Amino acid sequence: MKATVIAPTNIAIIKYWGKNPTFENIHVPNKSSLSFTVQKLTTTTTVEAERGEFEIEFTLNGKKITAEMKEAKYVFKFLNNIKKFYPFLNNYKIKVVSENNFPTAAGYASSASGFAAFARALVEAVPEFEDIRNDDKKVSILARLGSGSATRSVPSKGGLVLWKRGVDPETSYLYDEKEASERSYAYTLIEPEKLQDLSIIYTKVNEGAKKIKSRAGMKSTVQTNPVYWNWIRYEEAHLLKETIDALQNNEREKLLNNIMKASNGLHSMCLYTQPSITYLNDTSKLIMHSIEEYNNDEVKAAYTFDAGPNAVIFTYKEYEKEVKDLLLNILEDEQKILSTSVGEGPRKTDNHLF
Ligand code: PMV
Repeated sequence: MKATVIAPTNIAIIKYWGKNPTFENIHVPNKSSLSFTVQKLTTTTTVEAERGEFEIEFTLNGKKITAEMKEAKYVFKFLNNIKKFYPFLNNYKIKVVSENNFPTAAGYASSASGFAAFARALVEAVPEFEDIRNDDKKVSILARLGSGSATRSVPSKGGLVLWKRGVDPETSYLYDEKEASERSYAYTLIEPEKLQDLSIIYTKVNEGAKKIKSRAGMKSTVQTNPVYWNWIRYEEAHLLKETIDALQNNEREKLLNNIMKASNGLHSMCLYTQPSITYLNDTSKLIMHSIEEYNNDEVKAAYTFDAGPNAVIFTYKEYEKEVKDLLLNILEDEQKILSTSVGEGPRKTDNHLF
């Protein structure tokens, strides 16, 4: 069977950073996170599954992934994780072709849309997955086995998505691996139609310091940052709830302030890691400061950064032009600025990639 899925990326406003040490292998997080599903930035993936001895062939953006490449490690880990819970996958030869549509000039790496599209296409292509095909919760768990952030790109309604940690790290001993896995999934809190006043602006900031992959970075933070667990408790108990409330009650200023707070929380946790991790460069900081200045009289925009120097800016449609001009002043190239909106989740298509 062959199936093709187009899945969007997502941008976290309350970040995922750190796996539960007891369930690290299956990417159960230490705290819940919150994201917007992003329109325009997508991965298209075709999966073909044929009965036979297990085998995987993977082509990403036109390049065949060979065993020694770092991408192969992620793909193997994903499939091995799935096989633990769905052993019938051992009886399939799988061919995967995956392509990102991200504008050439932009370096928006995204394991989120990648593993979400892979998981969704896989359950369509393998007949034994029939029971979970239309179960967003189960498919989001499956995508989580490939990459944490991919969990949030699965819910079909998209919009504002909450990824529940599922297991409180303090009581991890109560669960076995299967139970822990089944408790941690994502679902839509607010549908995209209700979030169309928001504008999401992606920027491409020149890469400065050598990039530490999020997987290695968060592991190091959990192991060495002395205040990490305080941050986890604070965000889980306060910032997450406040941010959801702000969105539900349309409290713009509170939402934007919390988005910046959450981003700064993540990057201060990175700085407090030993050895220290710095993802932001001078241009990132220039963008932060110019947004803060722009907000002087009234908070109208917010920045957020993931494990890299590229800023993502949130604002409202009526200020989009002003904010883009401000970014253009810093980046001096329109190609480095892409505005989009909150979007829907993945969808199937008959336009197969092979
Ligand atoms: O699952 P990963 O390795 O893509 O983790 C991503 C972590 C951040 O992007 C930094 C934050 C987040 O919640 O997306």
